[in-house]
Amino acid sequence: QTTPLAPTPPMGWMTWNYFADNIHEKDIREMADAMVASGMVEAGYTYIFIDDGWQGGRDNRNNMIPDPAKFPSGMKALADYVHSKGMKLGIYSDAAPLTCAGYTASLGFEEQDAKTFASWGIDYLKYDYCHAPKDSATAVERYTKMGDALRKSGREIVYGVCEWGQLKPWHWAAEAGGQLWRTTYDVRDKWKNLSSDENAEGIIDILDINAGLHAYAGPGRWNDADMLVVGLYGKPGPSGDMGGLGMNDTEYQSQMSLWSIMASPLIATNDVRNMNGATRRILLNKEVIAVNQDPLGKQAERKIHDGTWDVFVKPLQNGDVAIAILNRSDKPRNYTLNWAELGLDGSYALRDLWEHKGAGTGKRWKGRVQAHETKLFRLSKK
Ligand code: GLA
Repeated sequence: QTTPLAPTPPMGWMTWNYFADNIHEKDIREMADAMVASGMVEAGYTYIFIDDGWQGGRDNRNNMIPDPAKFPSGMKALADYVHSKGMKLGIYSDAAPLTCAGYTASLGFEEQDAKTFASWGIDYLKYDYCHAPKDSATAVERYTKMGDALRKSGREIVYGVCEWGQLKPWHWAAEAGGQLWRTTYDVRDKWKNLSSDENAEGIIDILDINAGLHAYAGPGRWNDADMLVVGLYGKPGPSGDMGGLGMNDTEYQSQMSLWSIMASPLIATNDVRNMNGATRRILLNKEVIAVNQDPLGKQAERKIHDGTWDVFVKPLQNGDVAIAILNRSDKPRNYTLNWAELGLDGSYALRDLWEHKGAGTGKRWKGRVQAHETKLFRLSKK
């Protein structure tokens, strides 16, 4: 049996929620440097993903070219640079004539573009679905076409399907060649989307869609809950239209906990060059990352969902179990959770993955959880 591409959820940093399409190779090099210097790469965030806005049209042989003002040294040089740092480079296109932000896309040029990406040394393609017909047959056909083209490109390129979950890609994206698929509209730096912008989601909105899809995840096939907005603190990025952006560190810690236990890709989008202590502590928590990257590759199942409490359970390779406890309410609350309620018999030793210390042994956990806080524990059978 061969190892699938993306045997664990991909990790890295993506341009979109910080730069939108105002990207430049200089910023991307700086971000790569900062990812090495800050320990992000060592912690597992090995990809740099260039999102929409890099394209400069096609040359006279119809080969896609990067915008020469944004990427004066060309894409191959950037890929070489990123590879020299021990990192990988991702790029973006769309299954229509134009991308979401209106740039040149790949419909009708799938094989040619896949070969171009391979010749540059690209390691990952995010393939979007703006300006394309909203029916499953067309989506399957277009995604399969690019999936086949990537397989024949001569390079191993991880394939991220970005259809936002409307056509239920968990049923067809793996067969089309994808290793991950977005399950929702775009994440925004907010707890819940209360505005009329239906094409954007808060953390809780995404959670409630993605949580039900645990059965579809596994090594080489991931539900992609979109980027980690940790550390953005309201920096608008592409989402200035929504207003009311920005979360607190407790909420950012919740997103990290929940995305980790749901085995979602961990894709930061903050300014890695300027991270405060709280952002570092959240993004670089190795015990939390280990839950996300556990080789068993299970997405947690949500076992309790009662309006106040959400409890997630994720089995791990060595027999341990990870548990996340989220207080969704707007007040701090006390909670007593018996492991038996989760179907876990007997006694467990508990480790608090945010406090980095033991939290007792027994058949239950009792404690206080702040508003919008998520506790993350590792349980070992006693
Ligand atoms: C869509 C995607 C986003 C981003 C933008 C780029 O909205 O869902 O993640 O790639 O397009 O235009």
